[in-house]
Amino acid sequence: MVTLPANLVWRATALEVLDQRRLPAAEHYLRCARWTDVVEAIAQLAVRGAPAIGIAAGYGAALAAIEGPAALDRARVELVRARPTAVEPGVTVPRVVAAASLGGPEAAVAEAVRIHQEDAARCEDIAQLGAQVLAGADWVLTHCHTGALATGGVGTALGAIRRAWEAGGLAGVYCCETRPLWQGARLTAWECGQLGLPHRLLADGAAGSLLAEGRVGAVCVGADRITVNGDVANKIGTLPLAIAAAHYEIPFYVFASMTTVDAGLVSGRQIPIEQRSADEVRLPHGLETTPVWNPAFDVTPGTLVSAIVTETGVHRRPYGFLPRP
Ligand code: MRU
Repeated sequence: MVTLPANLVWRATALEVLDQRRLPAAEHYLRCARWTDVVEAIAQLAVRGAPAIGIAAGYGAALAAIEGPAALDRARVELVRARPTAVEPGVTVPRVVAAASLGGPEAAVAEAVRIHQEDAARCEDIAQLGAQVLAGADWVLTHCHTGALATGGVGTALGAIRRAWEAGGLAGVYCCETRPLWQGARLTAWECGQLGLPHRLLADGAAGSLLAEGRVGAVCVGADRITVNGDVANKIGTLPLAIAAAHYEIPFYVFASMTTVDAGLVSGRQIPIEQRSADEVRLPHGLETTPVWNPAFDVTPGTLVSAIVTETGVHRRPYGFLPRP
């Protein structure tokens, strides 16, 4: 049986983070003994993927609780701010802070571990339900990376794809490279290779032709934040896939935990979109001063999403997640 390397390992007073920037060339762990190390690991994408960011931020808050109240006061803000589009740190950090105020550092650590375990269980539920939705789709297309490395468990969209394939309901997955940081190539294609899951890598710009040729039965993506009306923030390049899928009448599915639904936002226009460094786009081309626009995420309107598969069920249009009172 194949085992993928753990992305986050808690070691009593430190968090070990698999440095996903170095995959697949090296399996290197960063030791985060201070909460500021965790902020850095999140901001620099050593750990990435919304659920994994949330789990890491929870452990970061636990490290701050060990350090003391002043550290926790700063950490609760900076851990959430490190990647502003992902909603999860805004859920996990307050949970750990509340545990710390009731039971001190030990309770904070226990809460962070609980958050990690809960995500693993939710992922399995999403994957099992998602496998039923995908059964018979033959080949599917995915974007970015939504597998085990991005979560506390089997993954979201890639978890569903994996479980559908294991059940004999799916032939394989096309993986978009996912510019500019190549999560689709470096992580999804690699993870599929480790699992023996049949896959084909394609340049992002080839996806429209793939859909036009009818080579996939569904498009499957994860989410960083979902609003009450079903709008979905996900890795930049997701929106064009949704538009093309609608044009060619191919189902476009989002797989995410209910913790990714932001009940405080009624529409995707309210989602903060992370803008990243110009160097991520220009330096690979040897350009040092070219002006760049580099949003890390886009927002797909819920009207283009065929279904959102969560651990609670298969939600279909029109979406009406309950707003926060
Ligand atoms: O910038 P990243 O790599 O953190 O972006 C990740 C994504 O967009 C994923 O699709 C999303 O977080 C879901 S991960 C289960």
